[in-house]
Amino acid sequence: MSIPFITAEEAASYINNGDNVGFSGFTASGTPKVVTVALAKKARELHEKGEPFKINLLTGASTNDHVDGELARANAVNLRIPYQGHKDARNAVNRGQMNYVDAHLSHLSQDLRYGFYGDIDVAIIEATEMSPNGEIILGAGLGMTPTIARMAKKVIIEYSSYYQTSFRGFHDNYIPLDPPHRREIPIYRPSDRIGSTVLKIDPKKIVGVVPSNASESIHAFTAADEVTQKIGDNVCRFLASQLKDGKMPKEFLPIQSGVGNVANAVLYGLGENPEIPRFEMYTEVIQDAVMHLMEEGKCKFASTCALTFSDDAMLHFMDNIDFFRDKILMRPGEISNHPEIVRRLGLIAMNTALEADIFGNVNSTHVCGTKMMNGIGGSADFSRNAYLSIFSCPSIQKGGKISAIVPMASHIDHSEHSVKILVTEQGVADLRGKSPIQRAECIIENCVHPMYKELMWDYLKLSKGAHTPHTLRAAFALHEAFAETGDMLQADFAKYGV
Ligand code: COA
Repeated sequence: MSIPFITAEEAASYINNGDNVGFSGFTASGTPKVVTVALAKKARELHEKGEPFKINLLTGASTNDHVDGELARANAVNLRIPYQGHKDARNAVNRGQMNYVDAHLSHLSQDLRYGFYGDIDVAIIEATEMSPNGEIILGAGLGMTPTIARMAKKVIIEYSSYYQTSFRGFHDNYIPLDPPHRREIPIYRPSDRIGSTVLKIDPKKIVGVVPSNASESIHAFTAADEVTQKIGDNVCRFLASQLKDGKMPKEFLPIQSGVGNVANAVLYGLGENPEIPRFEMYTEVIQDAVMHLMEEGKCKFASTCALTFSDDAMLHFMDNIDFFRDKILMRPGEISNHPEIVRRLGLIAMNTALEADIFGNVNSTHVCGTKMMNGIGGSADFSRNAYLSIFSCPSIQKGGKISAIVPMASHIDHSEHSVKILVTEQGVADLRGKSPIQRAECIIENCVHPMYKELMWDYLKLSKGAHTPHTLRAAFALHEAFAETGDMLQADFAKYGV
């Protein structure tokens, strides 16, 4: 059967107001780049005529400017789920203009198959190779593409000719059975392949193929500064000590590393530390650092959901793709982040906090408790089930006007039960086996910036005779001081009558 080439505008004409639209890709990589620009134009034109047009945007994780940016600026999104990182989408979410559901990345594919969100009306899928019988080689990110491809009533393929070399062999497309029939997911080592290199889509559902020649448009990370470097060093020293003390198998354990500048710096730190053995990764994204660590021989293998390389790093990867062919496997997000496998492999999970409290609860998502940053992503998929769950962040932000360690986190994504180790540039707090008060003492002593230590000790002294000694009236004194004066250091517990 022949599948027609169509224009982006023709493709957009298949998408109607209120549709559930599924997108391929993950953390920008492998997301569509052309049809959404035409879709945003269609939305603007309809809005100008006074007609409504908004879609529900369902995808693996964050996307690129072509998807979240274009559609947010065109006010064309009713519901966005599960993780976003684009400033225009974030602003739309925080203005209340876009409904945003923050969800664990490993959950959404199965929630879709369970029918929680209704049908997928249209899927837009980036392919790098395709045969007339609907066999597809995906691009640099897998996300929840197998599930949306299976569920979609109509499929639009964006056929990318940007990549000059083939991605064939990097993907492991797999959909688990759903309850009550689900069996174990047979991954026993990060490199175990359980699915198919090609994604098979019923060609009768494919309404057309839109040519594309766009890069992923991912910017390089800012170079590690003194603070992120120190955090990286602290994490590495801590892991080396765990090995030495026999608290970790001497072969070491696979690593999961989160997103952002701190995560990237930690990975570079692992690479440079001679006490850290060569390691494997079982993670949801690999960034530029991992590619370099593979070339240096420090990282032996990475199971991931996406190659979130900056454009320059991606070109380097493509030029040397045969070197990486037996070292990387891309899986759907529900498998790359699957709790069963995270627990079985015994991962060292390293994620970033926006804020943590002195009792070990972590906020990864909400600035000052109200404004959405990006979302929880896969951090909880990993942290709750890991062998060792490490959260790190700089101890202060905005030149010291914000302390990242506060008496009570203004929003909680990872409770005290999932946070085993907290790291800042000041030091490491090992929270295992400690009661709430012992955790508070350990965090204040080791992680809080010196300029905030006295305030934290004062807070801890306010309450006595409780298991978790909070004084609720004063628990958000630092946040309130920031809201009122722009500086958490102005917090005054006496103001709350304590
Ligand atoms: N209060 C207010 N603002 C804060 C803050 C706090 N406690 N902590 C950080 N910020 C601000 C920073 O000042 C910075 O602002 P700017 O953009 O104006 O400079 C911004 O938030 C980002 O901080 P930064 O330290 O550069 O963050 P990062 O790039 O290391 O990312 C997270 C940190 C938490 C946003 C990111 O890791 C994330 O989205 N995590 C959740 C999802 C996740 O963990 N996914 C991985 C699972 S595999």
